[in-house]
Amino acid sequence: MSELKKIRVPDLKKMKQHGDKIVMLTAYDATMARLIDQAGVDVLLVGDSLGMVILGHKTTVPVTLEDILYHTKAVARGANRSLVVADMPFMTYQISIEETLRNATRLIQEGGASAVKIEGGRMVTEAVRRLVDAGIPVMGHLGLQPQSIHKLGAFRKQAKTGDAAENLFEDAHALEKSGAFALVLEAIPKEVAREATSRLRIPTIGIGAGPHCDGQVLVSYDALGIYDEFVPTFVKQYAHLGRDIRAAVANYAEDIRKGRFPEQNKPIPISASKRLDA
Ligand code: KIV
Repeated sequence: MSELKKIRVPDLKKMKQHGDKIVMLTAYDATMARLIDQAGVDVLLVGDSLGMVILGHKTTVPVTLEDILYHTKAVARGANRSLVVADMPFMTYQISIEETLRNATRLIQEGGASAVKIEGGRMVTEAVRRLVDAGIPVMGHLGLQPQSIHKLGAFRKQAKTGDAAENLFEDAHALEKSGAFALVLEAIPKEVAREATSRLRIPTIGIGAGPHCDGQVLVSYDALGIYDEFVPTFVKQYAHLGRDIRAAVANYAEDIRKGRFPEQNKPIPISASKRLDA
C-alpha cells in the first residue's frame, strides 16, 4: 500500500485482490520498529526468531510467552503505520483452547499487537477458529515450522513430494476456512507456493518460497546483515550492518585508546550539559 494510512488486518486481503505485494519484516525493539515502519513496511512480525537473533538460542523452541510479550510491547511503541503481528511461542497454543485464548489475549491486550501468528495446519484449526471468534485475528504458518525442529531433525525444505504438497494445500484450505487472515509459507518449492497462492483467497506471505506469493517476509537481522554468522541461501542482504557495526566499534575503541575521544578542547554544548545534570 503506497499511501500512508495505517494498515489493518482486512487491508491485506484487499492488497491480494488488487495485486499489491505485501511487505513484511520482523522487528524486536522500538527503535528498529520505528525505522522499518518509516520505510513503509506493511507488517511488523515480532517473530519467535528473536530466540535465535536476539537471545542467542540455537532454535526458537526456548522462547516463552513473556519473551514475545516484552518485545511486542517495544515494537508496538515504535510502530505507527505498520500492522503488528506477534508470534505465539512453542506450546502456548497446543495445550488447551482456554490457555490459547488467555495467551493470545495477553499479546493483544498487554502487548499491543493487532494479530497473532500460529504454526501448524489442521492440528491448530480449532484454536484458530476460537481465537477469530473471540476477535483475535490469526496468521497461519505452513511449510517449514521451526518450532517442530526436534521432530524434523533439521531446518530443511518442506512439501517436496506430491503427497506432501497435497497435505499442505489441505492444511492451507483448513486454515482459511477457520478464519485465518493470511498465511506464511516457509521453505517450500516455488511451484507449491504458487499453487497454494492461487487456490486461496487469503494472502500468502513467503520466506524461501519463491516469487509467486502475495507478499514476502524476511528476518530483519538477516536482510540487514546484522545476524551474519549464518545466512540462509534465500536471503538477500540489503545492508551489511554487522560488518559496519564491528568497524564503527573498532574505531571508537581506537579513538579512546589513542586519546582522540573525547576531544580535549571541544566545549560541551549547553544542551548536553543540561542532559548530564538531569
Ligand atoms: O519467527 C519468525 O521470524 C518467523 C518468520 C521467519 C516468518 O516466523
